[in-house]
Amino acid sequence: MPFIGTFVPPGDKSVSHRLILMALLATGESLLTGLSTGEDVATSLSAFRALGGEARSSGEDLQIIGLNRNWPRFDQLEIDCRNSGTTMRLLTGILAGIPGHYVLDGDDQLRRRPMERVAKPLRQMGAKVTCHNGRPPVIIDGGPLTGIDYLTEHASAQLKGAVLLAGLSAKSPTTVTESLATRAHTENLINYFGGRVAAEGLKLTVTPGTLTLPPTFKTPSDPSSAAFFLTAAAFIPDSRVTAQNVLLAPTRTGFLSVLNRMGAKVTLAMTSDSPEPVGDVTVEYAGPLTGVEVLAAEIPTLIDEIPILALAATQARGVTTFRKVDELRVKETDRLMGVRHQLGALGARVTVEGDDLFIKGPTSFIIPESLDSASDHRLAMTLSVALTAARANIPILGAESIPISYPNFMERSRLLWRE
Ligand code: S3P
Repeated sequence: MPFIGTFVPPGDKSVSHRLILMALLATGESLLTGLSTGEDVATSLSAFRALGGEARSSGEDLQIIGLNRNWPRFDQLEIDCRNSGTTMRLLTGILAGIPGHYVLDGDDQLRRRPMERVAKPLRQMGAKVTCHNGRPPVIIDGGPLTGIDYLTEHASAQLKGAVLLAGLSAKSPTTVTESLATRAHTENLINYFGGRVAAEGLKLTVTPGTLTLPPTFKTPSDPSSAAFFLTAAAFIPDSRVTAQNVLLAPTRTGFLSVLNRMGAKVTLAMTSDSPEPVGDVTVEYAGPLTGVEVLAAEIPTLIDEIPILALAATQARGVTTFRKVDELRVKETDRLMGVRHQLGALGARVTVEGDDLFIKGPTSFIIPESLDSASDHRLAMTLSVALTAARANIPILGAESIPISYPNFMERSRLLWRE
């Protein structure tokens, strides 16, 4: 029984967050269409409104008025970032340069995630940013910033984005150099909104200034959401799935390259390329998959797809290796342990040595009484695909986390699955 069909995944989560949060630093009014309807992006919208921003929401569309830094000076504004690391990190960068006292906090999962990586460069710029043992709550006393030249210590688009957004409000240009290329949405959108980020390889320099929202912006669909069904199609015989209007920026499509190397048929039909490439992507089963090595430099381009790729690897012949996946330990949960224990509970041979992940396939699943996603949305969706493929019906604990990124995932899964 295969996955077959064509679908439009939800709006890209990373782009949706940035569109809403960057309106804090922009003039103009915009109709943003096709936004992510996930809970995380709703959190960024609440933060925008908490600062006094006006926006009218209707399903996936949002009419938004740029605040252009003109919010009241808050003596103490608490913003609940709930489960959203992107909201907390990007907002920290935005608020660092604007006078006021802000406290950013979140739920129990977010409270365990590292924030010092963002606080450190912002302090070098002159901001007063403190965390609690390197974690939330993040307390920001916004004020004048000076540009810096910063080499990131973690391959993180949220870290890079926070420093670039702070750089827009600084007195002088800021340079951020990455060790590995991460998703480039912040810099691409700054340039698209009339700002200036100059790129020289992995070195980015942002010129301080104001952004202007375009009258309309169509958000492309989320490749990380599409990945669950596209990857399922790669390893379930007779499957063929097409995801439409997907963001196909090279910093996001590492999983397609891996599926192709494992032996799946991947076809792209590009439809537009401004500000970033978008198109339709089809993945088709083309015989049993083979294990491959995924290099450290590829990891940022598929960081959120590792759980579902790991599931595909359990069905591939030979060993699949993911090099240097330590960042997985600081996602919504320790995803490295989640993948190891939950795929392990299905009988898969998964090992972790140092920061490398190894999966030896193929495995015919044994079905336990239940699986536990630890309320990690991406792990819960991976386990759901595993159980669908195995035609097993057992509870996935913590699956109510799925709407964080993909509210109608279960319905989509039922529509694409052919009995
Ligand atoms: C994101 C960057 C990545 C990714 C997350 C979204 C973004 O996190 O895992 O889901 O929108 O910038 P890191 O920046 O922590 O790598």
